[in-house]
Amino acid sequence: MRSEVRTIRWIDGVVEILDQRKLPHQIKYLRLKTARSVAKAIKDMAIRGAPAIGVAAAMGLALTAYHARTKSREKLLEKLRQSYEILRSSRPTAVNLFWALDRVMKAAEEAGSAEEIRIRVIREALKIAEGDVEANKKIGENGAKLIEDGDKILTHCNAGALATAGYGTALGVIRAAYSQGKRIMVYACETRPRLQGAKLTTWELMMEGIPVKLITDNMAAFLMQRGEVTKVIVGADRILAKTGHVINKIGTLSHAICAKYYDIPFLVAAPTSTIDFEKTLEEVVIEERDPREVLYIDGRRIAPEGIEVWNPAFDITPPELVTYIITEKGVFKPEELRGLGLRA
Ligand code: MRU
Repeated sequence: MRSEVRTIRWIDGVVEILDQRKLPHQIKYLRLKTARSVAKAIKDMAIRGAPAIGVAAAMGLALTAYHARTKSREKLLEKLRQSYEILRSSRPTAVNLFWALDRVMKAAEEAGSAEEIRIRVIREALKIAEGDVEANKKIGENGAKLIEDGDKILTHCNAGALATAGYGTALGVIRAAYSQGKRIMVYACETRPRLQGAKLTTWELMMEGIPVKLITDNMAAFLMQRGEVTKVIVGADRILAKTGHVINKIGTLSHAICAKYYDIPFLVAAPTSTIDFEKTLEEVVIEERDPREVLYIDGRRIAPEGIEVWNPAFDITPPELVTYIITEKGVFKPEELRGLGLRA
């Protein structure tokens, strides 16, 4: 992505967020000064994508630390705990959010004074952001080895620079392969209901001149049947180390089933901060969002009044449908994640 377009950044007590709800038509930044406003931006999806919301939440805590006037260590910790709870409840599925919040709180709790807390919390949030970009570049490097010249790659949702602190995961692999001179063609699935593929993935790739074609989600199977897809690459919101299940944007599972049927490699690119080492499938909360996301397209109602709606934001792809998981620490089969000591 062009360097002047930044997903998120910290500028002395302000968190600047590119408002993704306005893309691709408008480049508008939100300037946030409280943890509560960051939580709202995450909930309303001004910023979205698992790693990006982790970084945003960490910076939300940094805002609390930066603006709190107290000199008391205990009072500052108390304020941080309140912000922590508000940020935790912004979205339930992507594990990066909880991972980043816990990391920053740990740094705060280890500090001996209010001043030290401030320094440590801000430093930790910035480290999380920098670490995410570094991890993504490494994912790109590791994943590009699996991409061949001439590959036609299907992707779903947006797992690009916009979904992270920079560079992207699934799109990071595509970026890296493209920069190595491999000729690739990307099919971006529009990703109903919020259209992250149509609005964001196309925009990101077009800006870099990477060949991309937009399809609606229900065209993917036919495209595969035609032999037009040689690889599928998606990101993830949570990968369960215990079982290898991949939780990602609703629609991912359909692509994985089709890819298996047509013998097409199904690749998942994610940093180890997306791996959940604790939870089992039953313990994971799949977010259900406002029915209006399905009932309306860009503000225009498309279904009859009174219709009932089911709107889960994510689905669960079982490990047997996943060929490889590409992380910054290497490329693994889903069943290899357990006990590998990959904890970020
Ligand atoms: O609801 P969203 O837009 O936050 O969902 C995003 C996805 O599902 C992405 O594929 C995932 O977070 C990986 S982003 C690198």
